[in-house]
Amino acid sequence: MITPGTIEKIMDAARIDEVVGDFVNLKKRGVSLIGLCPFHNEKTPSFNVSVAKGIFKCFGCGKGGNAVSFLMEHEHYTYPEALRYLASKYNIEIEEEKPSPEQQQAMDEKESLFNLSAFAQKYFENQLHETGEGKATGLSYFKERGFTLETIRKFGLGYCRDQWDDFAQTALKQGYKKEHLVRASLCKMKDQMLYDTFRGRVIFPIHNLSGRVLGFGARILSDKTNKPKYINSAESDIYHKSKVLYGIYFARSPMASLDNCYLVEGYTDVISLYQAGIQNVIATSGTALSTEQIKLIRRYTSNVTLLFDSDPAGIKAAFRSIDLILEEGLNVRIVLFPDGEDPDSYARKNRPAVVKEFLEKQTKDFISFKTELLLGEVRDDPIKKAQLIKEIAQTIALIPEPVTRSIYVQKCSDMMEVEEKLLHATINTFRRQKSRKEREKTARTDHSAIQEADIQPAVHDRPGVTESNDSQEKELIRLLLNYPAKEMLFEIENEDQRPEQVKINVAAFILQDIQSDNLVFDNPLCQAIFDVFAEQWETDSFSAQKVFTEHEDEAIRQLAIDLLSNQYVLSKNWEKRHRIYTREEQEDIKPRVLHAVYAFKLKKLERMLADNQQQIREASSEENPSETALGELIKTNRDLLSRRSLFAAELNRVVTR
Ligand code: UTP
Ligand code: MN
Repeated sequence: MITPGTIEKIMDAARIDEVVGDFVNLKKRGVSLIGLCPFHNEKTPSFNVSVAKGIFKCFGCGKGGNAVSFLMEHEHYTYPEALRYLASKYNIEIEEEKPSPEQQQAMDEKESLFNLSAFAQKYFENQLHETGEGKATGLSYFKERGFTLETIRKFGLGYCRDQWDDFAQTALKQGYKKEHLVRASLCKMKDQMLYDTFRGRVIFPIHNLSGRVLGFGARILSDKTNKPKYINSAESDIYHKSKVLYGIYFARSPMASLDNCYLVEGYTDVISLYQAGIQNVIATSGTALSTEQIKLIRRYTSNVTLLFDSDPAGIKAAFRSIDLILEEGLNVRIVLFPDGEDPDSYARKNRPAVVKEFLEKQTKDFISFKTELLLGEVRDDPIKKAQLIKEIAQTIALIPEPVTRSIYVQKCSDMMEVEEKLLHATINTFRRQKSRKEREKTARTDHSAIQEADIQPAVHDRPGVTESNDSQEKELIRLLLNYPAKEMLFEIENEDQRPEQVKINVAAFILQDIQSDNLVFDNPLCQAIFDVFAEQWETDSFSAQKVFTEHEDEAIRQLAIDLLSNQYVLSKNWEKRHRIYTREEQEDIKPRVLHAVYAFKLKKLERMLADNQQQIREASSEENPSETALGELIKTNRDLLSRRSLFAAELNRVVTR
């Protein structure tokens, strides 16, 4: 393990412009460097590198990070691989430290499972090619399915003989432990007897990204039994089925170079397509697609083409996967296979060129897919048509990127003959509903510890009041991250009641002001960043940019990078009124900070007020309203009102200054 000291040395040495510059042609523009984004196709550069902040950010596709995350994204390195790359680039000697006994044991456990899986894979492969039973049943089965020897070798396919404990005995003799055999699903225990899980089945080893075997799928040879067709390895320390994609080890390079991947359902679909020359193909293997799997895909490409059977189950699975993929910000297209065919059978019956052409011709975007599928029954039925439009709008609403969303709105508007404006309105309603639900969820889980009863997130009946505080909160955090040490001049009255000028830096001002009013952020990420600031700001070596752009929590890292790259600036209104632009904002930071603080507080207060008024309404509509409780509430109300007008006045002063 690389020591924290070495990691720090590496991070200090790494210059973002030099690291990125090895892969992207950067030109100077203003204070930052700019180039064509390597993560998406573009003709005009929107890929920014800030040397001072040590980060990159693409305003086109949204990707951003530091030197290490650039290498992880661009070169598909793991974290330690990226560190080692940087260490060798900057001639830093890597110190390794011995892991703790617990870490060592966990690593040993995993390593044992990896070793055992590798051993089992070789054993099964050997059985397939070298034993009589293996050749007669296993190998002939694969050949009957049209797999060539080359393909069979490439995917490391195997066979487990139909003996009770053939594998178990061999593995034990080799020194593998009983409990590991069971934990890796290779054997089962019955009445103290060990027996082979996969006996009498052909074996599909499942590889991780670096080609190590994690687990197995084992298919029965005859379809005419009531036994399950496949037995798969159960979850283990090394095999997590929602994080693995079958075939990814072979497909990852073609996925990146072709910038697309085909997602199929099963082992044999992957293998047959691969053999037909379509190498960017992966499968979920029997489970529903997970967000973790989509994130894995995103390391190589942001384009997914789903290949599905046209039976109802296939179509239902396709609908679900479409939503999930779009929600993660990837593009999705769909190919539906003719009745009764799957990619495997189609690839077997047709020449590779025909398969390729079929895929190219049949690929549809998700709107055409849904519409064509459902339009037949819908065309003359306005109610059903409206329902379909609503469904499509709901799916479009999941797309995080506004430009992509509006492209699909156009498309849907054309196909369904419905006005774009109407679609946008429907989509916005869905998006608002979604973000409200998410807010309520985070409010329930993250704010349970809030002391002040009146900040409780309540259900409001006044529209507008529930509007998110998000932009105000982010603006505050943005200022905190970008200009913590920038000093602002204030005039106060000293002990002799004389005016005196004092300097307060941005961080101290914001921290004090928010803390003294005991206010919390609705956005848990903003709160987390604020808390770290509150805790560490006074320490000497504290560097906000470093702490957050290298933060272990991805969501925090991303938000910090977005805010550091000045993507969030105050409303246009503010720009117009003051004619100040981000470039100059640090020259004139004080009004920005005051504005941010007051706007944040005002919003908060308005929500507290709405809550309080709701409570008053509820209390006074009770049968026997408690006079004292009601009195308290009314007092609070008055108090809040006066605080609100105070802040409103302050805010007004800043804005109209
Ligand atoms: P399929 O039934 O389509 O399997 O299930 P297949 O891979 O195309 O197999 P063939 O063509 O009949 O030989 C798709 C995937 O669902 C999982 C497997 O991962 C399979 O590849 N599955 C299916 C199971 O895990 N268990 C089962 O009993 C059936
Ligand atoms: Mn099949």
